[in-house]
Amino acid sequence: MNNHPTICVCGAGTMGSGIAQVFAQNGFQVTLFDVNEKMLHTAKARIEKYAPGISAEIKFTSSPVECVADVIVEAIVENAEAKVTLFNKLIAINGPETIFTTNTSSLSVTGLAEKAGVPGRFAGLHFFNPAPVMKLVEIVVTSYLPEERAAFLSNLVTRAGKIPVTCSDSPGFIVNRVARPYYLEALYLLEKNVSDVVSIDKLMEATGFRMGPFKLMDLIGNDVNYSVSCIVHESLGKPARLKPSAIQENKVKEGALGRKTGKGYYEYPVV
Ligand SMILES: NC(=O)c1ccc[n+]([C@@H]2O[C@H](COP(=O)([O-])OP(=O)(O)OC[C@H]3O[C@@H](n4cnc5c(N)ncnc54)[C@H](O)[C@@H]3O)[C@@H](O)[C@H]2O)c1
Repeated sequence: MNNHPTICVCGAGTMGSGIAQVFAQNGFQVTLFDVNEKMLHTAKARIEKYAPGISAEIKFTSSPVECVADVIVEAIVENAEAKVTLFNKLIAINGPETIFTTNTSSLSVTGLAEKAGVPGRFAGLHFFNPAPVMKLVEIVVTSYLPEERAAFLSNLVTRAGKIPVTCSDSPGFIVNRVARPYYLEALYLLEKNVSDVVSIDKLMEATGFRMGPFKLMDLIGNDVNYSVSCIVHESLGKPARLKPSAIQENKVKEGALGRKTGKGYYEYPVV
């Protein structure tokens, strides 16, 4: 592997576009791939808005055969089957040294590593939203990953200007697991008519949280947040305290996904 690894980010949505921006801003050669041309255009415009000049440094593509790099960072839809299908495609066209990483929030990294078929070259690289702003990156290691590869990823994250924290593979890893009750209790209060969206957000912000739970869910994407809740709930044996909310399920069914669709718990101008 060369001194300055090449990066291919798969998925140009909320996370993928931000991750591509982060690597490009730190001098890495980056390819950004998405099956959806419209998402690529939106990603390009968003990157250009927040980091003028950087989008010209990124190769945007809707062709999977161009996804050849030293490090693959997968940030497509939170669905194990879709992720494994993509990894299988990319493993077939990449060299034997390429490291495959997933930005999954809640799927088992070990399960994905085994299904993809290269467990010794597979890890979680969990960026937070918005990726260009949030400093922390969880590096999710499995029992298959040699220590030197975990160290390589840690070094890569540092060179991308972020703070790496290594954690083992367990449902929701660390941050999403600890944060889950923040969303779920707020939804429970709403469901029981104890308070409303705006008041809950205002109160939590007044206590020092950077963002109220509803604003945060709209930023994350209600589809993504709901799917993480379901997966964490399921994989921990369905504890009542982590039961996903019907309110959020309905938001997903209505397509009110948050900022990315212009409507969630609040309304937003569509970018
Ligand atoms: N949104 C968050 O706050 C957040 C935070 C951390 C991690 N994550 C994780 O990051 C991943 C992406 O989340 P997101 O919020 O960016 O989703 P998103 O819905 O904004 O974007 C997903 C993108 O993947 C593309 N896509 C779908 N299938 C594809 C395929 N087979 N090949 C290539 N592109 C494909 C879609 O066109 C879309 O552009 C998920 O695994 C999610 O759990 C999300």
